[in-house]
Amino acid sequence: MNKISTLQIHHPYEAPSDFGAFAPAVHKASTVFFPHVQALRQRSVFNRQAYTYGLHGTPTVYTLEERIASLEGGQFCVLAPSGLAAISIVNLGLLRSGDEVLLPHNVYGPSKEQAHSLLSRWGVACKFYDALDPASLQQQLGPRSRLVWVEAPGSVTMEFPDMRALVDIAKAAGAVCALDNTWGCGIAFCDYDFGFDVSMHALTKYPSGGADVLMGSVVTRDEELHRQLLQAHSILGIGVAANDVELVLRSLPTLDIRYRAHDTSARHLAQWLSQQSPVVQVLHPALPGSPGHEYWKRDCGAAAGLFSIVLDPAFTQQQVDAFVDGLKLFRLGFSWGGPMSLAVPYDLKAMRGEGKGYPGHLVRLCIGLEDTQDLQSDLAQSLSAAFGP
Ligand SMILES: Cc1ncc(COP(=O)(O)O)c(C=O)c1O
Repeated sequence: MNKISTLQIHHPYEAPSDFGAFAPAVHKASTVFFPHVQALRQRSVFNRQAYTYGLHGTPTVYTLEERIASLEGGQFCVLAPSGLAAISIVNLGLLRSGDEVLLPHNVYGPSKEQAHSLLSRWGVACKFYDALDPASLQQQLGPRSRLVWVEAPGSVTMEFPDMRALVDIAKAAGAVCALDNTWGCGIAFCDYDFGFDVSMHALTKYPSGGADVLMGSVVTRDEELHRQLLQAHSILGIGVAANDVELVLRSLPTLDIRYRAHDTSARHLAQWLSQQSPVVQVLHPALPGSPGHEYWKRDCGAAAGLFSIVLDPAFTQQQVDAFVDGLKLFRLGFSWGGPMSLAVPYDLKAMRGEGKGYPGHLVRLCIGLEDTQDLQSDLAQSLSAAFGP
C-alpha cells in the first residue's frame, strides 16, 4: 500500500461517525459496496433497509423519500428525475396492454401527450372525462379501466374538481386512482383523506423552490402498489442525483412558509385583477365564481400561488402579447413554484380544441416571492400600457 494511487483509493482513515449537524450528509454512488458475498446475493431493490446500486438509492435519497411520504400523509415514496418522469413511473408501473387509463380534460399537457402518443402505441387505450362532471367519469369507466388520473386544479384553466366524488367513482369501478398533487403540495389538503391510492408530485415546483432542480415523487400507502412502482422505477433507470436531492432537502424546512406566502400574495393579486377592466374572469380556485370554487372551499385550507386571467376577447393577441412582454418583474417561462413571478399566454383553442376554452385571451400567472405591491404596480403599468388606462 505504498503506491500513491492505491493508498488514495484504499486509504484506511475513516472520519469519526458521531458528527452532528442540521444538514443531512450527501451520499453519492454508482457502485454500492456489499460487506460480503452473501449480502450481495441476497440484495433486493425492494429492501429499503439496505442498498444495492446507486440508481436505486443512497441514504440521501432514502431521506428525501421519507420526508416526501410524510409531507403527503403516505407511507412509501419513489423519486424520479422530474415530475413527468414520476407520471411515467405510475403509467408504466401500473398499466399493461389491454388496459384503459382515464385522464381529466384539463390534465397537464405532456401527461395527455404521453397517454396519446406512447401508451396508446403499447395497447393502452386513453379516455378523457370532464373534470367538473363526475358523471362523465362514470360514463367512461368500463371493465378494462385500470387507472384514473385526477388533477386538482386542472392545468392552466384551474378548474377545481370534486375529488371525493371522482375517487369514489373510480374505486367503485375497481380502478386505481392517482392524483397529480403538485398544486396541493401536501399543504392545501391531504389527498389520502379522500382515498387516493397514489399521489404524484412535481418536486420541481414548491419543494425545490429554487427554480433550479427537476424532480418528481410518487407516494402510496399501499405496499403492493409501491412494489409495482419501485419495480418500474428500477428497470427504467430513472434515478435521481444526490446533489439535486440535497437541494430539495435544503428547501423543505421553508416549504410551508413559502407556500403560504405565495398563496397570500396570489390571492391578493387575483382579487385585485378581478376588478381591472381588461380582465373578464380570474381563474383561481379560492375566488368565488371560479370553476369548482365550492369544492376548493369544502376540501382545502390553502392554495398555491398560481392562477390565470382571461382578458377581454375584444383585445387583439398583439395587445395581450404586449401586456406579457411589458411586465418588468414577471418573466416569461413555464415551471412555477420558484421565487420569481412568471407569466405565460396560452392558446386554449390549440391546446384543447374548439369550444373548450374561455371567451377571451388566457394568461397564466405564477406569483413568486417578490413584494406584493411591487407585483401589483408592475401588472398595473403593463395593463394600462397594453390596453389603455
Ligand atoms: C401539474 C403538473 N404536473 C406535473 C408537471 C411536470 O413536472 P416537471 O416539470 O418536473 O416534469 C408539471 C410541470 O409544470 C405540472 O405543472
